[in-house]
Parts: sequence; C-alpha cells; structure tokens
Amino acid sequence: MALLDGKKLLVTGVLTDHSIAFHVARLAQQEGAEVVLTSFGRQLRLTQAIAKRLPAPAPVIELDVTDEGDLEALVGRVSEHVDRLDGVVHSIGFAPQSVMGGNFLSGQWADVATALEVSAFSLKSLAVAAKPLMSQGGSIVGLTFDASFAWPVYDWMGVAKAAFESTSRYLARDLGPEGIRVNLVSAGPIRTTAAKSIPGFEKMEGGWPERAPLGWDQTDPEPTARAVAALLSDWFPATTGEIVHVDGGVHAMGL
Ligand SMILES: NC(=O)c1ccc[n+]([C@@H]2O[C@H](COP(=O)([O-])OP(=O)(O)OC[C@H]3O[C@@H](n4cnc5c(N)ncnc54)[C@H](O)[C@@H]3O)[C@@H](O)[C@H]2O)c1
Repeated sequence: MALLDGKKLLVTGVLTDHSIAFHVARLAQQEGAEVVLTSFGRQLRLTQAIAKRLPAPAPVIELDVTDEGDLEALVGRVSEHVDRLDGVVHSIGFAPQSVMGGNFLSGQWADVATALEVSAFSLKSLAVAAKPLMSQGGSIVGLTFDASFAWPVYDWMGVAKAAFESTSRYLARDLGPEGIRVNLVSAGPIRTTAAKSIPGFEKMEGGWPERAPLGWDQTDPEPTARAVAALLSDWFPATTGEIVHVDGGVHAMGL
C-alpha cells in the first residue's frame, strides 16, 4: 500500500515545476493520492500548463486566497472533481518588494498588510473555506521559513511567517476536535520563483550547505515535499501544531 493511497488532496501554490507545491503534487500522485490544484488570475494558464508535467492529470481550480468570492466558491469548485478532502496544502507566500531586501525600517503598513494577508491570514481563510469538505477529519500542511530568527533581507516576510506559524497553532487548537491536524514544514532555502523575488535572496541562502550537518541543496525541493507528504499521510495521527524542520539541520546548530 502506498503512503497516500485513496487520499483526496487540495494543493495550492503550483506556479512552475520548481515550486515546492509541484513536487508535493507529484509525490502525492506517485503515492496514490488524487490531487486538485489551485491557481489564480494570470497564473492560472501557467499552472494548467505545468500540471501537464505531473504523473497524472490534475484539474486546476481558481483560488485567490484574498478573494472572498473565490473562498466562498471553493467547496463547489472542489466538489466538481472530488467528493471530500483528506488533506490541504498551503504553499502560498507573497510580500511586496518594498518590505523585503533590507527595507525593514521603511516598511509601510499597506504593503506589510498585504504580506500578512496573503502569507499568514490566508492559512485561516483556506482552512475555513475547505473545512466543509473535511468532515471525516484530515491534515492541513503549510510551508514556513523559520521565524525564530531575524534573517538578512527577509524583513516583513519574516514577520508574516511568525504570524503564519502562530496561526497554525491556533488552527490546530480549534480544528483538532474535528479531527483536522495542522502542521508546518520549515524548509531551508530553495530557489523557487518566490525565493528569487526576494531582493538579495543569496544573503539568506549563503553558507547554508556548509552550516547544515546533513548538507543542503538549494535546487532540490524533494526532501521538503517528502515531509509534506508524510504529514498528509496517516503516519502522524497524533501530531498537530507542529513545525517539522527540513533544513539539513541548520535550525539546531549554534554558529
Ligand atoms: N523557496 C524557499 O526557499 C522557501 C523556504 C521556506 C518556505 N517557503 C514557502 O514555501 C511556500 C511556496 O513557495 P515556493 O518557494 O514554492 O515559491 P512559488 O513562487 O513557486 O510559490 C508561491 C505560490 O504562492 C502563490 N500565491 C501568491 N499569492 C497568492 C494568492 N493571493 N492566492 C493564491 N496563491 C497565491 C503563487 O501563485 C505561487 O504559486 C511559500 O509559503 C514560501 O514562503 C519557501
């Protein structure tokens, strides 16, 4: 029996075949899951094209996590393809360039608010929107970048990740009684579109492979995707509100 046999999953965040979510969707299909993807706006056609590179066809439905109409329509759109959800992957992040890249002190609230809404509040929005399809319980998994530290250039996106991590714990509290687990994977730096849009991203990834006891390959999303797949599976039945580090071990090291 494969890890995710019979699971029905909603995977957000497939933009290119470098996206962490693309590799989650690929592994999930290989492990027996049925996958529905989401995308939005002008990215929709790109996601539809990339979806053809998955092992099996995957429908793409529209979801901008900041759009009330899309959130309200989610149950109907997902139900056109699957009758329930066993898992939801939140692989979404965005902050305007003005609040990253060393611009912490000059960050303006409107831009910070956008970062917080898209990158943190959206976990609550997505969880609540998908909940009616998870009446048998399930697993929600998101992606973070360790918010315990002030990183070079990450700035207000780092603050958004701190809010995101806290949001996952409150969701774990409120959804646990319904059998829904909420966990995060804290990944080391991976060269995706979101990462490359951070001005000075190389300052964040600098030295990571040397600092990681296990080493680290910034071009390989597979270890991160595997951890997401494991958390979506039945092999973490009593784990929620957890953050699993997939960073080669950097989080546990001193200088
Ligand atoms: N790449 C890294 O180094 C790294 C490390 C740790 C955590 N993460 C996190 O992993 C997640 C996925 O990012 P990625 O690195 O695969 O990059 P990516 O650019 O491939 O994915 C980001 C996704 O966010 C989606 N998105 C942005 N705004 C949205 C909105 N309003 N509604 C719906 N979707 C929206 C984009 O469509 C895109 O698919 C993010 O949460 C990111 O912060 C990335």
